[in-house]
Amino acid sequence: MTDLSTNALRTVVVERYVTPLREGGSMPAIVEADDWGMYVLKFRGAGQGVRALMAELISGGIARALELPVPELVLASLSARLAQTEPDPEIQDLIRASEGVNVGLDYLPGSVNFDPAVDSVSEEFASRTVWFDTLVSNVDRTARNTNMLMWMRAPWLIDHGATLTFHHAWDGHVADPGKPFAPSLEHVLLHRATQLARVDAGMASRLTLPVLTAILQTVPDCFLQQAAQDLQSAALADPEAHRAAYVNYFLARLNDRSRWLQGVINGRV
Ligand SMILES: Nc1ncnc2c1ncn2[C@@H]1O[C@H](COP(=O)(O)OP(=O)(O)O)[C@@H](O)[C@H]1O
Ligand SMILES: [Mg+2]
Repeated sequence: MTDLSTNALRTVVVERYVTPLREGGSMPAIVEADDWGMYVLKFRGAGQGVRALMAELISGGIARALELPVPELVLASLSARLAQTEPDPEIQDLIRASEGVNVGLDYLPGSVNFDPAVDSVSEEFASRTVWFDTLVSNVDRTARNTNMLMWMRAPWLIDHGATLTFHHAWDGHVADPGKPFAPSLEHVLLHRATQLARVDAGMASRLTLPVLTAILQTVPDCFLQQAAQDLQSAALADPEAHRAAYVNYFLARLNDRSRWLQGVINGRV
């Protein structure tokens, strides 16, 4: 069983901007923090907005509850002072726009991007990953952009910023939460996901109301308030109501999961 008490996230203070990671669109960076740890920082002020950071926390938390490998997530406090020593004006702007709380992922040193032509995973791992990505509507696990790293000879899941597609236009309710998710048919591991029906019950049974509630508690109020403002949603203005809306969405999607699961199983043939 997932230990709920370990769900609280640590907070670190960013002390040094080390280097940008220019591969993806959101310009994350490697930073060093006050615990001497290195993290990949996801900036609140990046173009994707605060909901991308919320998606990292929520989907990352769900992955963790499902015992899928994700780097440790932390809240990372950033001071605009760090912009002063940064020569690149684009990075200066990003730091200034992200003053305050951001999200960090433990940096996996020496990891390499998962290459589907070379790297392989078990059919069980593929099935559990496709199940998870379909639950959280992840558009970003394709052969072109796997968002998986190989580290210590094992696959790790990263970059959940583009999950939760529903939360870019909602007011706390989703009309059809059990809807099949067509982008899963482009999933890099779909051909290996032979055990979707077999893993289904075990996966769903981990995502109970207390587990989902605890995951949503890791999302800071200031993120929820910013997202409600960006969406101009009065219904989501209260952070607790906002958290409950996500929990209710996942419970409804899980309850109706035979539909989205069948959609992806049918897509394999
Ligand atoms: N925790 C990590 N450890 C090591 N490298 C990482 C980590 N997270 C991301 N990276 C590297 O940085 C790149 C960009 O990060 P990602 O989270 O995919 O952001 P985005 O695609 O939005 O720019 C990844 O493709 C990967 O090469
Ligand atoms: Mg990426």
